[in-house]
Amino acid sequence: MDIEIKGLCKHFGKNDLYKNFNLSFSEGKTTAIIGPSGCGKTTLLRILAGLEEYEAGSITGLPGATTKNEGRIAFLFQEDRLLPWLTVSENISFILDSFLQKNAQKIRVKDMLELVKMKDYAEAYPRELSGGMQRRVAIARALAYDADLILMDEPFKGLDDALKSEIQEKMQEQHKGIKKTILLVTHDLEDAQKMADIVYRFHSRPVDVSIEV
Ligand SMILES: Nc1ncnc2c1ncn2[C@@H]1O[C@H](COP(=O)(O)OP(=O)(O)O)[C@@H](O)[C@H]1O
Ligand SMILES: [Mg+2]
Repeated sequence: MDIEIKGLCKHFGKNDLYKNFNLSFSEGKTTAIIGPSGCGKTTLLRILAGLEEYEAGSITGLPGATTKNEGRIAFLFQEDRLLPWLTVSENISFILDSFLQKNAQKIRVKDMLELVKMKDYAEAYPRELSGGMQRRVAIARALAYDADLILMDEPFKGLDDALKSEIQEKMQEQHKGIKKTILLVTHDLEDAQKMADIVYRFHSRPVDVSIEV
């Protein structure tokens, strides 16, 4: 099912962030959102993930909305949010506990660490990693979750160009033929156009949207 946002209204204090905002995201497609800092990209992802309230409007088609416990949402936050007391592999495997056996978890973790080129650091702790390496673990964790909807907030932040291209290509390969709905927020039009089937540009405020061609 497509995700449809209709008549969304949200304000912080006196400022309207969204005023009668409408947008839909196609099932199984990658949609990118670009726009200036502070225009409301992160807030939209948080609303979709159920982490932020809104005053009016409706959102339909979210995984798990109709049947209890069916459908998962993965969220790669703008900050990495790795758990400092867990190793790299534990940071990924702990979210798999509820639906994968230990052996399957191991395989999934290994595959994802390979995708982000971090398999040599499986036993390292987050504090031993550079910012870019922590970002890669956060990407691996979001992809490992096998969600129906993947929300990614500035996923490639802090990665150098060569590594970024490589990870982007592997992500595209991984999602070839798999119907996942991906929503990707980025500053970078090139990244957006490379990864997404459609690119929306947000203008603030209240948020208005245009299609990037
Ligand atoms: N919890 C909050 N309280 C008050 N203002 C907020 C809060 N979260 C976001 N905002 C404001 O809403 C606007 C959009 O924020 P955000 O969605 O994070 O923008 P973006 O991700 O596009 O940079 C910003 O002006 C920000 O200051
Ligand atoms: Mg943001």
